[in-house]
Amino acid sequence: MTKVVQASAPAKVILFGEHAVVYGYPAIAVALNLRAKVSASLIEQNTSSNDSYLYLIAKDYNIERKIGVSNQEEFQRLTNTEKKVIEPFLALIKVFQQKFETLFSVKIEVTSSIPKGAGLGSSAAVSVATSTALSELLGIDLSLAEISALAYEAEKVLHGTPSGIDNTTATYGAGLIYEKGSFTPIELPEIPLIIGNTGVERQTRKLVGYVRYLHDKYPEIVSPILEQMGKITREAISILKNNDNLDLQRLGELMNINHGLLSAVGVSSLELDVLVNEARKHGALGAKLTGAGGGGCMIALIDDNSKETVKRALTEKKAETIATHIATKGALLYDS
Ligand code: PMV
Repeated sequence: MTKVVQASAPAKVILFGEHAVVYGYPAIAVALNLRAKVSASLIEQNTSSNDSYLYLIAKDYNIERKIGVSNQEEFQRLTNTEKKVIEPFLALIKVFQQKFETLFSVKIEVTSSIPKGAGLGSSAAVSVATSTALSELLGIDLSLAEISALAYEAEKVLHGTPSGIDNTTATYGAGLIYEKGSFTPIELPEIPLIIGNTGVERQTRKLVGYVRYLHDKYPEIVSPILEQMGKITREAISILKNNDNLDLQRLGELMNINHGLLSAVGVSSLELDVLVNEARKHGALGAKLTGAGGGGCMIALIDDNSKETVKRALTEKKAETIATHIATKGALLYDS
């Protein structure tokens, strides 16, 4: 019987430090209980051929395709959406094949409850879940650090040189502080957040590139802004560590300042600003964009009094609101 392996990994939200993290400042990210799931099985490999195949079923995108892993011509004939969805899987398979010197064809079925292109790390969750499934299928014993590193290779194909925060959070789960390529887990209290999705898809690579452009053009102006973001994150870390006496008001104010600085480096958008302002107007303790910006999601810090009013206000502005909790678990493997 064909062995089928299932694995999943969570979404993430960045509380503080996006963009600044690319310049070596800390960021705080937390895993959410929205997950990407993959189901994978090996397809019989033609031993006389050097070709290997990916048979991908991605129902969220209406994609069901068999494609040669290294067949560039076939790849070029795909639609842009197909390319975007399929490319990271191909990248990951190639990395596995090269690193572990093994040729294999694989069927992968992927489903996800994570909104795509919204700054919640959906691609990293898929890559981490796929790395986890492939390692089990191929009988390769990988540490979490190796799973995360392999997923990072696929992330690079999509996002250029991302900081690595997405794949790290998707692998380890819970809360973590990420700085200069390494991370430390942080025990987080249950933070009362509402996530509002503008529904505007954006590309992390372009937004990171725009900040880089501004930074290089106006180094003396933009560097101090990024440095201030770093200070905000450090301040937030010390608030969050004071779990017994969590100063939500201060945390909210820091979110507001952080949003202003992110706007200053050009990564907010009209839609994000509308949601951020609506949330504040209806009682949120603070609100900011999260992730790369340009669209995607914002987060609002709420309390019992403002929970419903903020949710309603965001919904009235046509945002999808996501009520979710911290996921303590990162990459998971299921037996089937
Ligand atoms: O929007 P996301 O989830 O891709 O987050 C991007 C976070 C950035 O700091 C802007 C980029 C990065 O690689 O860390």
